[in-house]
Amino acid sequence: MKAIDKPYIILSAAMTIDGKIASKEGDTDISDDRDWKEVHKLRTKVDAILVGKNTILADNPKLHIKFYSHSGYFRIIVDSNLSIPLDSNVITYQPELYPTIICTTENVSIDKISEYKAKSIEVITSGRKERVDINIMLLKLYQMGIRSILLEGGGNLNWSFIKENLVDEIRLTIAPWIIGGQDAISLVEGDGFSRMKDAPRYYLSKVKTRNNYVKLKFLKLT
Ligand SMILES: NC(=O)c1ccc[n+]([C@@H]2O[C@H](COP(=O)([O-])OP(=O)(O)OC[C@H]3O[C@@H](n4cnc5c(N)ncnc54)[C@H](OP(=O)(O)O)[C@@H]3O)[C@@H](O)[C@H]2O)c1
Repeated sequence: MKAIDKPYIILSAAMTIDGKIASKEGDTDISDDRDWKEVHKLRTKVDAILVGKNTILADNPKLHIKFYSHSGYFRIIVDSNLSIPLDSNVITYQPELYPTIICTTENVSIDKISEYKAKSIEVITSGRKERVDINIMLLKLYQMGIRSILLEGGGNLNWSFIKENLVDEIRLTIAPWIIGGQDAISLVEGDGFSRMKDAPRYYLSKVKTRNNYVKLKFLKLT
């Protein structure tokens, strides 16, 4: 069977020793300045960055590129009911350099889609289920010419990609804290797999350490 045409997916995150990407109160101050710089460098190498709706609501990120010269990229958000505020930074901040695509479901009304299109947002629909169908979305993004995507979470969106075995590469920064808390978001949330043999497996391609931080690069075992 032919594999589906999809962009190359790099999952990138900073997490604590115990695998949390935010504290129970939503504190994400995990990276240091050097790590942030490296994240921005990685952003220059992809066609698009992708995050989930909750990350937009929690952090209101610009998802822009600092420190390096570049020619911009697409910002992509998954939002099943098309509900992120129209004044979110991801909509208002430098749209000419970082065009924004919101992926939603076919359950959303044409009127609602028009509100976002009026703000120069590209809206694509993927499936009629409760949540965005990631496989349909990736095929549509590929057809739009997007060949590589930096997946920057959060934990629920990461699970949707891991569940479908869609992550080709993982770039992890482990920061020297243990924060705990069952309500603190982990790198990957969701139902999880029951058995190790069902889970996607990766090989460790690079390890770097500095200043008590560990940087890991994993590639998909094919
Ligand atoms: N440390 C780091 O590197 C890092 C990076 C990113 C985020 N974070 C943190 O992670 C937290 C947010 O993570 P989160 O897990 O709560 O949310 P998330 O993954 O950012 O967003 C999940 C939401 O996206 C929407 N969605 C639509 N289709 C989906 C699909 N097929 N699969 C999954 N989600 C889909 C759903 O909301 P609707 O159904 O309502 O649309 C879902 O609840 C924030 O605290 C943020 O700061 C940390």
